Amino acid sequence: MAIQWFPGHMNKSKKAIAERAKSVDMVIEMLDARMPASSENPLLAQLSKGKPKLKILNKQDLADPERTKIWLEHYNSRPDTRAIALDSSETGAHGKITQACRAMIPHRQGIDKPLRVLICGIPNVGKSTLINGMIGKKSAKTGNEPGITKAEQRLFLADDFWLYDTPGMLWPKIIVEEGGYNLAAGGAVGRNALDEEEVALELLDYLRRHYLPMLQERYQADKDPSSHWDDNSWLEWIAKKRGAVLSGGRVNYQKAAENILTDFREGKIGRITLETPNQWETWLKKARQKEAELKAIREARKAERKGQKPADE
Ligand code: G4P
Repeated sequence: MAIQWFPGHMNKSKKAIAERAKSVDMVIEMLDARMPASSENPLLAQLSKGKPKLKILNKQDLADPERTKIWLEHYNSRPDTRAIALDSSETGAHGKITQACRAMIPHRQGIDKPLRVLICGIPNVGKSTLINGMIGKKSAKTGNEPGITKAEQRLFLADDFWLYDTPGMLWPKIIVEEGGYNLAAGGAVGRNALDEEEVALELLDYLRRHYLPMLQERYQADKDPSSHWDDNSWLEWIAKKRGAVLSGGRVNYQKAAENILTDFREGKIGRITLETPNQWETWLKKARQKEAELKAIREARKAERKGQKPADE
């Protein structure tokens, strides 16, 4: 299964973001620090081409600090890009963000030349939490004005610092399969678009290969045999530990899957990041190759069909 998730309202968001991106000085892209590349939006990069970007790796409190450092270095080495890590409920978030934006666009300041910033992020990344924390009581919100789409909000973080928040989010086709699973594990994908058991097995597969001690500790698994268990044995073990057993002693895989997904989302297994820049690179390469192969097959079939048509057609 590959995770696909493109709610209907996202086409509208695409238009709104494309429109707003033209008039802002820079873009803030909120990413999930546990899966920065999976939560990045290639479509946003296209729509805001040429604009400086501040990448916020949010939920850093749940992510592996070593890997967050690697991701920050990765993004900070890109031209016109700055990256910071954040926990959107932290008190200093406002200052950190405005400071980073002002450092990127120093010439936009003063009431005549406000710094105009667009903020975007996939669902559940923590955008509302962050914005609510930033608005405080002093700032005003406006919407429904000429030049501002109905549901868009313009937030005055200071007289000369305007933040545009577009509702909804862009979500292009997920071509990297691992990225789809990561988003699903993190809770960004609607429940009706995924098979929890499958997502849990993928998560277990990654955890047992990269975070085995945390897994063993969380589910009190003996060190020796657990290192040889496969994903299914792990899910069975978790089911037994959590009492996810049906009548006749049958394992309730669904319940066990929900258990591990909730544990992961709440950071109960530990601080975990499901991808590194190198891993992402490898997955992306594989996905592109697969896409190219599929395209070649489709084109060959099309050519074959054309060749079969009668000459007078
Ligand atoms: P969105 O607007 O981008 O869709 O996301 P929202 O702010 O609603 O946040 C989604 C969930 O993520 C919320 O939890 C929120 O509390 C949590 N969250 C946001 N930022 C952070 C962060 O930096 N660290 C951690 N650990 N969690 C964060 P929820 O369970 O859906 O709601 P609630 O528990 O806040 O009621």
